[in-house]
Amino acid sequence: MPVPMPGTMPESEMVSDMAQTRLATVTAPNDLESYWLPFTPNRSFKRSPRLIVRAKDMHYYSADNRALLDGTAGLWCTNAGHNRDPIVAAIKRAAEQLDYSPAFQFAHPAAFELAGRVAALAPGDLNRVFFCNSGSEAVDTALKIALAYHNVRGEGSRTRLIGRERGYHGVGFGGISVGGIVNNRKFFGSLLAGVDHLPATYSREHQAFTKGEPQWGAHFADELERLVALHDAATIAAVIIEPMAGSTGVLPAPQGYLQRLRAICDRHGILLIFDEVITGFGRLGYAFAAERYGVVPDLITFAKGVTSGAVPMGGVIARDGIYEAFMRGPEHVIELFHGYTYSVHPLACAAGLATLDLYRDEKLFDRAKALEPRFADAAMTLRGLPGVLDIRTVGLAVGIDLASRAGAPGLRAYQVMERAFQEEGVMVRAAGETIALSPPLIVSEAQIDEIFDKVGRAIKAVT
Ligand SMILES: Cc1ncc(COP(=O)(O)O)c(C=O)c1O
Repeated sequence: MPVPMPGTMPESEMVSDMAQTRLATVTAPNDLESYWLPFTPNRSFKRSPRLIVRAKDMHYYSADNRALLDGTAGLWCTNAGHNRDPIVAAIKRAAEQLDYSPAFQFAHPAAFELAGRVAALAPGDLNRVFFCNSGSEAVDTALKIALAYHNVRGEGSRTRLIGRERGYHGVGFGGISVGGIVNNRKFFGSLLAGVDHLPATYSREHQAFTKGEPQWGAHFADELERLVALHDAATIAAVIIEPMAGSTGVLPAPQGYLQRLRAICDRHGILLIFDEVITGFGRLGYAFAAERYGVVPDLITFAKGVTSGAVPMGGVIARDGIYEAFMRGPEHVIELFHGYTYSVHPLACAAGLATLDLYRDEKLFDRAKALEPRFADAAMTLRGLPGVLDIRTVGLAVGIDLASRAGAPGLRAYQVMERAFQEEGVMVRAAGETIALSPPLIVSEAQIDEIFDKVGRAIKAVT
C-alpha cells in the first residue's frame, strides 16, 4: 500500500488508514517468512524447521512432541537444566512485584544481593560487578572499562587491545574486533583500530585426542612478549582471551599457558581479561575457570549460566583496584559513562539469585567436576568413527572435529546436527567443522552415555 505523504490527506482519513495498517498486522499470516534467524542458514532452516516448544530438566520437546536430550545446555547457558521450578517461581514472583526499575540513578535491592553473590564466587579481589544483558555487552563493557581505567590513571596512551585468533567474544564491534573468527569479522568493515591478536593455541599434530588441558602449547603465551616488543607496553591496555575457547570448537588452554600470560601482563602493566561467558558457572567444574587454573585476571566477563539462560543477563567482575581508580573527583559526577537500560533487570536478578541457590544446594559445580572423567571417556568412544579427526574434552564440554566434505566446508557437521535432531532425539551444536557438546550440569551418567551413543549413530549415518 502506498504511504501517504503528510499533508496530502485529511487527518481523519490518515487515522483510519493507520488503523487499517494495524488491522492488517493483526491478521498477518503466522508463517516462517518474517523472522530472520541469527547465525542460522535461513533458507535451509525454513525448508526443514527445527521448532522447539517446551523444555524440562535435561530435555527439549519439539513441535511434534518428540523429547530431545539437551546435549548443549541450550547455547552453553542452561547449566542448571531447563524450567527448574525454583527459577520459574522466582521469575513469577519478581514479575508480580517489580516489572522494571531504572538502572541509572536508581536501583533495586536484588541488584546488590546478586552482585554480592557473584563477587563471592570470583577469586581474589574480583569484588565489583557491573551488570548488562548478554555476553557481547559484557565483552564491550570490559574493553571499555579497561580503556577508561588506564585513562583515569593518566595512562591514556594505553589504547591497544589484544585478542586471540579463533577467539569468540560475541558480536559487538568490540567483540568482533578482538575476536578471531574470520566469518564474524570479514563482512563488517575495518572494526576497531589498534587491535592485535595472539595466535590460537591449537595444534592437531601436537594435541589430538587430549582429555583436559594439552601438555603442549604454553609457549603460545610468549607471543605476547613479541607484541609488546612490536607495539610497546605503554600502548597496550588489555589482553582478552577465553580460558577455554568454546565457540571455535572447544580448545582448552594448554597447561601453564594462562599462568604465563598472567606473568607477562603483570610485567608490563597490561590488564588481563578472562571472557568466562561459557566457562563461568560450573562448565569446567568451578564457579569460574580462573579458579580451576589458579589465575586471577583483572576482569571477568560472564553471562549465560548466571541465570541458567532463563532471563538474559551478563556482567563484568572487576578487581577492587580497578573500581577504586574510578572513585575520584566530585561525588555528584558519574564515574563511568556506560550502562544499559536493562542492566540488572528485576526478572534477571530474580532468576540469577534462584539459579545461584540451585548451583549451591545441588552442588552442581562439584557435580561437573566429578563427572568430567566419565564424560571424557564417553566422548573418546567416538574416536575411530568415520570422519572424526580429533576429540577434545575439558570439564563438561567436548569438541569433535569432523573432516570437511570436498567443496562444502561445515556441511558434514551441519548434517550431523540435523540428523541428531530429526532422527536421534538429541540436541548438538555444529560450529564450523566441529560438533560441540556441553550438557546441563544435572546430566546423569546414563544420559552422558545416551548422548554419545546418539551422536555416534548420527556421525555414522551421514558419512
Ligand atoms: C566467550 C564468549 N563471549 C561472548 C559471547 C557472546 O554472548 P552473547 O551471545 O550472550 O552476546 C559468547 C557466546 O557464546 C561467548 O562464548
